[in-house]
Parts: sequence; structure tokens; C-alpha cells
Amino acid sequence: MKIAVIGTGYVGLVTGVSLAEIGHHVRCVDVDVRKIEQLRTGKVTIWEPGLEELMVKNMAKGRLYFTTDYEVALEQAQVIYIAVGTPESEDGSANTQFVEQAAKQIATTIRDDVVVVMKSTVPVGTNDRIYQVLQEHLKHNVRVDVVSNPEFLREGSAIEDAFRGDRM
Ligand SMILES: NC(=O)c1ccc[n+]([C@@H]2O[C@H](COP(=O)([O-])OP(=O)(O)OC[C@H]3O[C@@H](n4cnc5c(N)ncnc54)[C@H](O)[C@@H]3O)[C@@H](O)[C@H]2O)c1
Repeated sequence: MKIAVIGTGYVGLVTGVSLAEIGHHVRCVDVDVRKIEQLRTGKVTIWEPGLEELMVKNMAKGRLYFTTDYEVALEQAQVIYIAVGTPESEDGSANTQFVEQAAKQIATTIRDDVVVVMKSTVPVGTNDRIYQVLQEHLKHNVRVDVVSNPEFLREGSAIEDAFRGDRM
């Protein structure tokens, strides 16, 4: 499948690399220009055993690509993962502003039906809100479904957790 991953932090990068490794064509987008530049040189931005080797291998096979351009990342995507940060607010709740920004970017960019997969850790009810945001900002008459795929990786064993997770 053609897959886009929004956010190339810990979760997004591991997700993108893992999906490419099992044969999907993955384009990862991030707003952090320096991070994307580094990833494009084949150097990972986090310490994670086995990640860089898999990333370089899949980039070489043409299955994994990094960009700051949403148009390029979402072009032809059938599935779009949201894996941006949800930092803790002062009251302890998760701040979902980056998730909403990503949803607006998706809505204004896509031209075909997609499934949006929420990988970011978000409060119950967020997917309903994100579905509304998508509907409000869609530029074309397309169908968008929103589903959850909560992340359980542990930093330091993320590749192992991605391929041999103990829960789905
Ligand atoms: N790191 C973990 O161990 C872990 C485990 C389980 C769940 N999670 C959850 O997964 C989510 C992501 O966590 P992380 O550790 O990967 O965060 P991170 O801060 O490492 O990465 C987030 C990335 O999203 C990018 N970003 C922000 N807004 C963007 C936008 N509008 N478009 C494109 N890119 C954008 C940032 O530049 C950054 O590179 C969070 O909700 C977190 O709670 C993290």
C-alpha cells in the first residue's frame, strides 16, 4: 500500500521504517526541516538498535522517503498515520493542537479517499473531533475514515516491539 506518516519523532520514524520493511511504500513528513534533512542523509535522529540499518535499507529500495512537503507526502496515500507529539498541558491533559494541525493539513491536501490512523496518544473522543476537523476543511469530495492504532513501543526496544508486539 501507499502510506504516509505525519511526524517523524520516535513513534513516526519507527512506524514508517517498520511499514516499509514489510513492503509498503511509505512517505514520512515532518515540519522540522533539520530532522528531515538528517534523515535524508541516512542518519537516524534517535537512538534505537537496528533502526538505522532498516531505514537505510528501505530508502535504498525506494520504499521509504522523507519530506517536509505535505503535497509530496500525501500524494496517492491510501492510509495516513498521525504520529505527532501530544505534550502534557499544565493541567496534565494531552495537548492535541499538533494533531489538529495535522488533520487540517490532511484535509486541505488529499484528493482521494483515505483512512487516517491515529497513532498519537490522545484522550477519548479525540477521533470524533479530528473527524469533524477533517470534514470542515476538506477541499475535495472524498471519503475519510478515522481509526485508532494506539502505540505501545518502548524506547530502546522499539523495533522489537513493532515486529513482535505483545498486544494489538
Ligand atoms: N515515544 C514513545 O515512547 C511513545 C510511546 C507510545 C506513544 N507515544 C505517543 O506517540 C506520539 C508521538 O510521540 P513521539 O515520542 O514520537 O513524539 P516526538 O516529539 O518525538 O515527535 C513528534 C514529531 O511530530 C512532528 N510534528 C509536530 N507537528 C507536526 C505537523 N503538524 N506536521 C508534521 N509533523 C509534525 C515534530 O516535529 C516531531 O518530529 C505522542 O502522542 C506520544 O505520547 C510515544
